[in-house]
Amino acid sequence: MDAELEREFDRVVGAEQRIEPRDWMPDGYRKTLIRQIAQHAHSEIIGMQPEANWISRAPSLRRKAILLAKVQDEAGHGLYLYAATETLGADREDLTRKLVEGRQKYSSIFNYPTLNFADVGVIGWLVDGAAIVNQVPLCRTSYGPYARAMIRICKEESFHQRQGYELLMTMMRGTEAQRRMVQDAVDRWWWPSLMMFGPPDAESSNTAQSMAWRIKRHTNDELRQKFVDMTVPQADALGVTLPDPELRWNADRGHHDFGEIDWTEFWQVVGGNGPCSRQRIEHRRAAHDDGAWVREAAAAYAHRQTDREAI
Ligand code: 3HC
Repeated sequence: MDAELEREFDRVVGAEQRIEPRDWMPDGYRKTLIRQIAQHAHSEIIGMQPEANWISRAPSLRRKAILLAKVQDEAGHGLYLYAATETLGADREDLTRKLVEGRQKYSSIFNYPTLNFADVGVIGWLVDGAAIVNQVPLCRTSYGPYARAMIRICKEESFHQRQGYELLMTMMRGTEAQRRMVQDAVDRWWWPSLMMFGPPDAESSNTAQSMAWRIKRHTNDELRQKFVDMTVPQADALGVTLPDPELRWNADRGHHDFGEIDWTEFWQVVGGNGPCSRQRIEHRRAAHDDGAWVREAAAAYAHRQTDREAI
């Protein structure tokens, strides 16, 4: 029976069609989807912290409104993605527990501090820009609920990237001190942004199988290269220097060569030893604990409604 089901699964994936929640799927497919989508959701929720840090200190009402909208979007992205994991049988409470206990990951990028408002612009430009490069292919991922969630998320990410770039353009037309703030933020966020795409393909434990199942549509290095190629002209237009002396156009390859990423730093941060790792998880744990009464009240209300309808 399973052999026939497996053949049908392979046929659907091979034909670029979608696997839906009620379809048979290999246990490994379900498991790696829950892993990736849950960690994606965790990243969106934890990712609210670095920027939320600046909402109350935005330099104008306009900037405050934009940043508030962006941070609220990230919360929504997290909820879409947790809902997608629930179609695979995952339990949101269990996923949150795994996150705060360090048994599931979130993107390394959110473990760096936001030191001033130029960081808000650079996060929009580089971090959300990297997210777009990584997430647009996921609109074609083989699992239906994940692909559909990504379509809406990607539309909102393009607003995130554009608002960040516009903020930086404004600062670069400002004072010399503002221009120095932007360059300093670019220097601090460039390499961690390249790390968002994951380890080199040769060290990626999941890529081969995820590509075979058409969960991932490109490898980590392919998307990282695409991001570098896309970002260099944007940096030129902005008037900032990307902090990599080896960055140069290679006409033979048709891509930009760039320097070696500090993979020791990457694995240190992924392992929970980033500059803000402990703070991010403590904040998430406290928010979850503080919200327990809301979850209990909602559950009690839902229970009473069910009892009423049963009468
Ligand atoms: N931070 C933390 N962990 C990372 C990582 C990163 N930047 N890159 C890789 N890892 C982890 C992987 O999770 C994996 O560990 P696991 O097996 O315990 O999950 C291990 O390192 C090996 O990496 P692989 O390349 O084998 O893992 P994947 O095949 O899952 O590739 C990925 C990693 C490219 C991040 C992939 O999971 C992916 O595309 N995920 C969906 C997108 C996503 O999660 N983006 C995170 C940022 S969210 C965001 O940007 C929000 C925006 O609003 C700013």
